[in-house]
Amino acid sequence: MARAATRYACQQCGAAYAKWSGRCEACGAWNSLIEEAPRSAPPRGLDPGGGRALGFVGLTGPSRLPPRRQTGIAELDRVCGGGLVPGSAVLVGGDPGIGKSTLLLQAAAAIAAGADRPQAVAYVTGEEAIDQVRLRALRLGVADAPVLLAAASNVRDILASIDRPDAPELVVVDSIQTMYLDTLDSAPGTVSQVRGAAQELIRAAKRRGFIVVLVGHVTKEGVIAGPRVLEHMVDTVLYFEGERSHRFRILRAVKNRFGPTDEIGVFEMSEGGLVEVSNPSALFLAGRQDHASNADLEGTPVAGAAVFAGIEGTRPLLVEIQALVAPSVLGTPRRAVVGWDGTRLAMITAVLDARCGLSLGANDIYLNIAGGLRIAEPAADLAVAAALLSAYGETTIPEDTVVFGEIALSGEIRPVGHTEARLKEAEKLGFAEAWIPPPRGRKGAAPSRLTSVAIGHLGDLVTRLSPQRAGRRRERIGALP
Ligand code: TYD
Ligand code: MG
Repeated sequence: MARAATRYACQQCGAAYAKWSGRCEACGAWNSLIEEAPRSAPPRGLDPGGGRALGFVGLTGPSRLPPRRQTGIAELDRVCGGGLVPGSAVLVGGDPGIGKSTLLLQAAAAIAAGADRPQAVAYVTGEEAIDQVRLRALRLGVADAPVLLAAASNVRDILASIDRPDAPELVVVDSIQTMYLDTLDSAPGTVSQVRGAAQELIRAAKRRGFIVVLVGHVTKEGVIAGPRVLEHMVDTVLYFEGERSHRFRILRAVKNRFGPTDEIGVFEMSEGGLVEVSNPSALFLAGRQDHASNADLEGTPVAGAAVFAGIEGTRPLLVEIQALVAPSVLGTPRRAVVGWDGTRLAMITAVLDARCGLSLGANDIYLNIAGGLRIAEPAADLAVAAALLSAYGETTIPEDTVVFGEIALSGEIRPVGHTEARLKEAEKLGFAEAWIPPPRGRKGAAPSRLTSVAIGHLGDLVTRLSPQRAGRRRERIGALP
């Protein structure tokens, strides 16, 4: 009889089955079902007579904003909506080696240093040895911060140390995949262990009012390893992303019960740890300015580069969009996109084809957002089109020009939000001209020292960026076998 009670849980999505199979029917993952100990049966047939009636209240009434615990790292505080909320659970996800442990050790040290009592911050590592963490602390220059450090992975031991009246204010658990409950049979890292361990830690955090930060690894597919369930259990989910070969790291809130989810925090990985970047536009355009100041190259802006004035959360952010268009030698031309949506690129080339008679179809197209940033705004459409046209026609966009606007399927350029903020940031960074959608309605152009060039239709942009040279190039492309 006991055999019938075992169940198989998918390590990707958490779906449970009575029988093993090679493929999870719920999420389609292969080889992801693992045998787990049965969960105790839920109570059946509740008797409502035994319950206590709820005291319903109206939607308005006295309510308090949650108090916040500032970490001392402004970029992290902003992403969390103004600081961490006591009694809440935060999940920090990211690729291995991206800097999660570094960021959290820095935050832990900063909070501990600013706390008004000793033993306010605990850092529990299940991945590294004490010496490794100490070495990192030394490197970060925070070795003398009063952080309680422990290497442990048994949740029972951890709870014995933190689930008490004098609990710390912040507990960092690095990582949740290494934690286990000795009441469960399955191995650490499996869905039931991760879920069980997180549940116990979060429950203790709510009961004692401390902040628990769980570190979670991200799988190849880009989800926090195995259990999506973890994302539902915590109050805030932050992703730490970036290209490992780049210096920039971006902290993004993807879920936040206590704040907005479109904020990003920008950091730079340096010898001494993560450094906040309070003016990211300057950083993302840094390579460009180096180029402009290079005496040999001065006065020769590159074809295929456009500066996009974007908005990330509440903050304007200027980035360079780079395109390369080359005649293809393959039957199916290549399309390679880094940092942007490939489908959106296909849409723009289709609009260029259908509305402007410009066929990019037979060319290989490479598109890159400089600095390893990932852009999701449709407002980048016009800048992408400008970079493509500039690359295609070997024409250059003036170096002091920013571009933004959304492209409709008709080829019209649609206005986008936050025009003023975008222009202001561009002005601050020394740009002189902006190619933007024509203002709609009675609202006149925002006062700005930038020269605004209204691009009403994609055709206007094509005219602007297709000099005689483009014709020559097309002949050359046409002449290829
Ligand atoms: P780490 O925080 O261990 O990553 P994670 O916890 O996400 O796996 O970061 C490791 C990387 O960061 C490693 O490749 C070295 C680099 N690093 C620096 O460049 N400077 C530093 O001061 C530190 C501590 C790490
Ligand atoms: Mg780590």
